[in-house]
This record gives sequence, structure tokens and C-alpha cells, in this order.
Amino acid sequence: THQWRGIIEEYRDRLPVTDTTPVVTLREGGTPLVPAQVLSERTGCEVHLKVEGANPTGSFKDRGMTMAISKAKEEGAKAVICASTGNTSASAAAYAVRAGMVCAVLVPQGKIAFGKMGQALVHGARILQVDGNFDDCLTLARSLSENYPVALVNSVNPVRIEGQKTAAFEIVDMLGDAPDIHVLPVGNAGNITAYWKGYTEYAADGVSTKRPRMWGFQASGSAPIVRGEVVKDPSTIATAIRIGNPASWQYALAARDESGGLIDEVTDRQILSAYRLLAAQEGVFVEPASAASVAGLLKAAELGKVDPGQRIVCTVTGNGLKDPDWAVAGAPQPVTVPVDAAAAAQRLGLV
Ligand code: F0G
Repeated sequence: THQWRGIIEEYRDRLPVTDTTPVVTLREGGTPLVPAQVLSERTGCEVHLKVEGANPTGSFKDRGMTMAISKAKEEGAKAVICASTGNTSASAAAYAVRAGMVCAVLVPQGKIAFGKMGQALVHGARILQVDGNFDDCLTLARSLSENYPVALVNSVNPVRIEGQKTAAFEIVDMLGDAPDIHVLPVGNAGNITAYWKGYTEYAADGVSTKRPRMWGFQASGSAPIVRGEVVKDPSTIATAIRIGNPASWQYALAARDESGGLIDEVTDRQILSAYRLLAAQEGVFVEPASAASVAGLLKAAELGKVDPGQRIVCTVTGNGLKDPDWAVAGAPQPVTVPVDAAAAAQRLGLV
């Protein structure tokens, strides 16, 4: 009887909704904050993982999407559209079903993970694969929403940010105060913007005594904010953050500078190494882009930039099942055995 009600009901007084806003929800949010033992040992800090892959469609996007679709419904929209590297489209497709709306999605051709494509398809979205990258998809989605009767639900829609800021609220509510450092992957830069807004609102109202330093990490082949210029042909195995011209670029810089934080890059190799560490040593299976936060924390620790004794939260943004190819790649093939306990025991090294 005491089920988590979803972020709009749990944080209603801090979100731009009224009594007449139709709440379209899959009871997103309320995700686990998991103590990370190995990462804590490696850094000498108290490290927690905010496991956003536990959301209904498997990523943090659901927090923003419950808001975006609820507001679109309130305004009478019949159809929504988004550009996506995969997770936004999966989330939009699911919430559009709940709202009885048509959902159109634009994805970069050949560059979205298998599981995410499956989600958009099974929820009945109208999918167009665009012969271009995410940045091209977003340009196209914006243009369509300006010229046709379809509402844009990308994070350039400010209500998306409002929904996503609730993750920061949950962390403070759990820990009793803000952490010293918050680490997260950066793609289109909506999420770092949202967390900073959430932490700032709680601190302003005295719910927390401080705000964390915000540490964002981009993939090296898709690191426009680190380079200080648009990346025309972004590349990385972490397709979720394969973005060359982030829409919330200026907000990300503000979050970095106002918090005394940093935005740095991690290589695909560092991302995959953190991805494997999370799965094999913490028991948390995330998609590659999500591991960029942990890869960044480990990089900073190796460079001596992490003072021991701090409380650190890393957001891991999406579920590992979204993109299972990376889990299987390079792993040893399972062996086949007959229906024979002795043979199985021998293969398992039990004898
Ligand atoms: N991690 C995952 C798993 C994502 O899907 C994204 C963004 C990010 C991190 C980066 O967050 O864009 O707010 O900086 N995915 C978007 C999408 C672009 O279309 O699903 P951001």
C-alpha cells in the first residue's frame, strides 16, 4: 500500500504542475542509492551509485518524460516528437502510450543500441532513422515541432529539466545532505543542468546545507565542452553520449563554474574498463555511457584529484540490458555440457 508514487506526486510542490495537470506516470524515480564498496576503497571516499537504470524504461529519462508528457497532455497535444540516441525515444514511446498520444522519434541511423530500438518499436513509436548524427536529429525535431502540430519532448523543453532535478532531491533526502561531489556522464548536458538546479533549490530552501561540486565526463571522441568547440563528427562506443553540439552547453558550464567543479573526458577504453568493474565488482550492470561517470572518478583519483574522506555520488544513467553487445563482446564463450552432474561439477571447478 505504500508504493512510490512517481516523481510528480512525490515532489508535487517543487514541480510546475497544478491540480488539473493530468499525471502521466509509470512511477518513475525512487531509484536505489547503492553504496559502492570497491570504488570507496579505491578512492578512500564514501562512494554511492544512483542507479537510474532501475527506472521503468531503464534510464533517467523517465523523470523528465513524466513531466514532458503530462504537460503536453495538459496543453492538448495529440503527438510528441524527440531526437534521441535511444533512451529518450524509449521513454517518450512508453509515456506516449500511457497518454494515448502518437510518438515520433528521430534517431541517428545505425548508431542506437539494440535494446533501445526494440523499446521504441514495441511501444509503437513512429521511428525515422536519420542519415546524420544526434545533433542533426535534434535540428530536424525542432524544425518539425515549430512547423507541424507536434510537441517537442527533448531536454530543450524546460519541463524535462524540472522532472530530472528530482534525482538530486532523492539523493539529499536519502543522505540527509548534499554529497561533496556529484559525478555524471555528459551528452546533451540536460542532466548535469537538472541536477545542479535540484541541488541549488534544496540548498536555497535550507533542505541541505551545501551544494556538491559537479563533475561531468564526456567521451573523448565526443567532447565538445572539453574542447571548447563543436565536434562535427562525434564518435564513441558509448552511443548514448555520442553528441557533438550539446543543447545545454551553457548551462553545463554554469553548473561547472558555480559549483567549482569540472568537465573532463574519458576514453572509450576507460569507459569499458569502468563498465566491467561496475558489473564484475559492484554487481551493477549499466550501459557503457553510464560508466563514463565512474571512469571519470577513477581517472581523477589516479591523478590525485580526489581528496579522501569525501562523500561522492556517481549517477549511472542507464541499464546494461539496453546495450548487451558490450557485455558479451570479449567474454569467454560458455561451455556446453551433457546432462551429467559429474561432468558439470568438473567444468565448474567444484572437484
Ligand atoms: N547516459 C545515458 C544512458 C543517456 O542516454 C544520456 C543521454 C546521457 C547519459 C547524457 O545525458 O544528454 O542529459 O547530458 N541520452 C539522450 C537520449 C541524448 O537521446 O537518450 P545528457
